[in-house]
Amino acid sequence: MTTTQAFSSIDKASGDTLSPISVPDRLLLGPGPSNSHPNVLKALALQPVGHLDPFYIQLMAEVQDLLRTAWQTKNRLTLPMSGTGSAAMEATIANIVEPEDTVLVGIKGYFGHRLADMASRYKANVKTIEKRWGEAFSLNELEIALKEIKPSVLALVHAETSTGVCQPMDGIGDLCRKYNCLLILDTVTSLGGVPLLIDEWKIDLAYSCSQKGLSCPPGLGPFTMNERAEEKLNNRQGKVPNWYLDVSLLNKYWGSDRVYHHTAPVNMNFGMREALRLLLEEGLEASWNRHRSNAEALWQGLENLGLKLHVDARFRLPTLTTVQIPEGVDGKAFSSHLLNNHGIEIGGGLGSLGGKVWRIGLMGYNSKMENVNKILEIFKTELSKFQS
Ligand SMILES: Cc1ncc(COP(=O)(O)O)c(C=O)c1O
Repeated sequence: MTTTQAFSSIDKASGDTLSPISVPDRLLLGPGPSNSHPNVLKALALQPVGHLDPFYIQLMAEVQDLLRTAWQTKNRLTLPMSGTGSAAMEATIANIVEPEDTVLVGIKGYFGHRLADMASRYKANVKTIEKRWGEAFSLNELEIALKEIKPSVLALVHAETSTGVCQPMDGIGDLCRKYNCLLILDTVTSLGGVPLLIDEWKIDLAYSCSQKGLSCPPGLGPFTMNERAEEKLNNRQGKVPNWYLDVSLLNKYWGSDRVYHHTAPVNMNFGMREALRLLLEEGLEASWNRHRSNAEALWQGLENLGLKLHVDARFRLPTLTTVQIPEGVDGKAFSSHLLNNHGIEIGGGLGSLGGKVWRIGLMGYNSKMENVNKILEIFKTELSKFQS
């Protein structure tokens, strides 16, 4: 007779049972994930269908179309990668970077470093230009670098979640065409929440995530590439060195052939469809305006309390605000207090901003005046208790 052993704390024999999962109530006002829209949660809880079911294939086409509108692009190769934002980030690099290609990365925060690291793993000749964390690149700075370095790819982060800076994009796409390089844009913290016009801005490749402006849980990484980028992909010398993220293979599933590639996370795509439907029902511009007006109310409220914002008003990102931790305040203790006593998550600083700022996110479903008032009230009444 076979006897089974308990390798976990669920041990029927002894009568011990682990209780079914129950998740604490949290208001996620950090750098992401943000809370999901209740309708998205309902969509996620539906029974899965097969990943080649005609119903699902129709849904895939709808998700692609909705994503094109959300990104304002006609790009044929627009699809959600099965994975988080980093998977979609890696997909942009993996598909168009060949060994020895010169890739220029504009680094002005944590995620610029991640792009440079990824490009180096695909054996690119990586060059970087850097700005202080909290600043954006000027067109002139980018032009000088493009002229001197002559990269085949420029990679930039539109919305730097580590600093709260929104990179102005006017003219950058034209510069990249002038200097004959492709432009990759990280839109992880901008899609849905901040004006973003992929075709008009001449962005060649972009990626994002599901868990911020789209009000879904983490798990999908929207990806798009235009014909210029496709041409580079088609002219590669060797195979894309990443099987899972190879867009030419993925497109046989997402395009007309519908050939199995991997088992799609079908429920995540149910959620994505609902999230995008809700975004477009509200209206893209209405969503951008909502994010901006709620962020402005937060900025004003924090300044009225005597707090300093880390980023100059011209470059502030509506989805993510960095607030300087005042002298003598234990920033970590305050954010732990918010979580433990109010169920509210805010973020701390990353990298060179570690211990210096808090990061407050108002993204997607969570960008509401009610949440602005809630967080401002706690700062007003409770921050002084953390001052030494
Ligand atoms: C700007 C930016 N890029 C990339 C990523 C990576 O996305 P993920 O954590 O979903 O893999 C993040 C994550 O927050 C981000 O903020």
